[in-house]
Amino acid sequence: MNSPLQNTALKNRVETLLAQMTLDQKVGQMTQPERMACTPEDVKNYHLGSVLSGGGSCPGDNRPAAWVDMNDAYWQASMEADENHLAIPLIYGVDAIHGHSNVLGATVFPHNIGLGAANDPELMRRIAQATAREILATGVDWTFAPTIAVARNNHWGRTYESYSEDPALVASYAAPFVQGLQADYGEQSVVACVKHWVGDGGTSNGIDQGETTLSEEELRAIHIKPYPPAIEAGVLTVMASFNSWNGDKCHGHKFLLTDVLKNELGFDGYIISDWDGIDYLSEDYFDAVSMGVNAGIDMFMVSEDWRDFIDHIKTHVNNGTISMSRIDDAVRRILAVKFASGLFEKPRPASRALSNDASFGGDEHREIAREAVRKSLVLLKNDGKTLPLDSASKILVAGKNAHNRGHQCGGFTVAWQGVTDNELIEGGTSIWEGIKAVASNAVLSEDGLGLDSKAGDHDVAIVVIGERPYAEGMGDVRTGNNVIVEAGSQIKGLMKILEPYGNTLELAQSHPEDLQTIINLANLGIPVVTVLVSGRPLVVTQELDASDSFVAAWLPGSEGQGVADVLFGDSDFHGKLSFSWPKDANPNVNLGDANYEAVFPYGFGMNYSA
Ligand code: GLC
Repeated sequence: MNSPLQNTALKNRVETLLAQMTLDQKVGQMTQPERMACTPEDVKNYHLGSVLSGGGSCPGDNRPAAWVDMNDAYWQASMEADENHLAIPLIYGVDAIHGHSNVLGATVFPHNIGLGAANDPELMRRIAQATAREILATGVDWTFAPTIAVARNNHWGRTYESYSEDPALVASYAAPFVQGLQADYGEQSVVACVKHWVGDGGTSNGIDQGETTLSEEELRAIHIKPYPPAIEAGVLTVMASFNSWNGDKCHGHKFLLTDVLKNELGFDGYIISDWDGIDYLSEDYFDAVSMGVNAGIDMFMVSEDWRDFIDHIKTHVNNGTISMSRIDDAVRRILAVKFASGLFEKPRPASRALSNDASFGGDEHREIAREAVRKSLVLLKNDGKTLPLDSASKILVAGKNAHNRGHQCGGFTVAWQGVTDNELIEGGTSIWEGIKAVASNAVLSEDGLGLDSKAGDHDVAIVVIGERPYAEGMGDVRTGNNVIVEAGSQIKGLMKILEPYGNTLELAQSHPEDLQTIINLANLGIPVVTVLVSGRPLVVTQELDASDSFVAAWLPGSEGQGVADVLFGDSDFHGKLSFSWPKDANPNVNLGDANYEAVFPYGFGMNYSA
């Protein structure tokens, strides 16, 4: 592996700087508050090494210039050397997991589940390169992406952040996406972060942040498998996972974090905790701090209580319960990443070449996203060769997700839990808008249910159905006493107990309006093309039976017009299922299972010639 972190000159720069640092300055580098809980003055006074935006935490009017201004203020404070403070550039982190999707006007790419269906590793590189440019346009240096989870249970609210249930497919994407983001560690590069280490997609019943019970052999074969190619590709950061493995929390797991990830796999960047992830290690936060540090985490995402974190870590060092050698190891890793990614050479964010760059949300990036939408669609049924459609047909378009850019983008878009309607997805096209652009005789059902239509008025119907946006545990489908989800601490608020998405994967139960709409239109005596917008395979037996054609569109993002490109035959279907399609909600089926039985097997996907 030719990691830039092993460069001798770089290592000398690290040692020279480390030797000048006080304990306060070292501990500051290990601390990452959320932007709403710290100011530029705090960055200087506490020598903070990083600040993040949680999902939906956006400055000012949430346009690139406001982000550049925010980052410029943080960066300036970090570089204002004086007798107490060393100039060490702050690194700002954000969840640009499907484009820089927090920011208004960004190009929003399909979520990973759709990209997995595209099965095109080189496309991942181009998506990552475009995403890097849009991140740099806002003065940000680091994205907590790509997620390389191997989701094994569709009940999990983060299934859509996974490329596939197949570790081999996920592994094939890890390197090109990391290389697309980090490139040559130069002007067009941002720091990547593969996550979440490890076993996030393997929890029992798909419970987010839950318990992954597997032998070490199974953990390696399924969930660790995508990490070596990412490390080989030079990924500079890894995020620890909330879940536990055989009862032990990953955030406190020295074997997983240090022995396996750092020593065995040779990861030489730094490990970042997840959002207040060490809180779950102990009722006593003082103990949790030493458990997380001594297990091998190097930088700590501490959304609000970061002053206590700093005090505790210093007390542990003075007590000897955290060694100075462990602190120095963590800070070496952080400094090495900052040197390798060129942060010390970059000018202030306001003066950087790509800040406020016109490519942000521009046509070039949107064309890549539109291509990704086309390649992600999976044709599951096409009775009577209803598809491709004739653009001159009289088409009735209905369904709650037909004209809703927010819904087609899903979670982690402008807001943590995503948004609804169209206004906040600026520059995008809804699926309806894409259809309307090519089919002049298409009309949108006003009531969305198709009840406002009469037999004979239309030749064919398109019904766009599925899920509303969600993120993390709030996307879980849970039953029994695991119904309550504890979301991470809320900034300046109380810990909130949040409801999961629902209690069934059966769409006819969770969204009966969808089946009803299909039936309403089928009763007009016309063929019905159903398009499912969802973050996971769902049990849709009744909806399938009531439809002539059925397309899985996943969460296509801002470029809904990519769906029309394929429905009207400008492009053929390309997508193949990267997740087995379940007949029932339980037991969950995965490629490789004994007695494997799926409605549509892994790898299934029709096209116009088949
Ligand atoms: C969240 C997620 C993680 C994300 C982080 C920052 O809880 O688990 O994927 O990067 O917090 O938003």
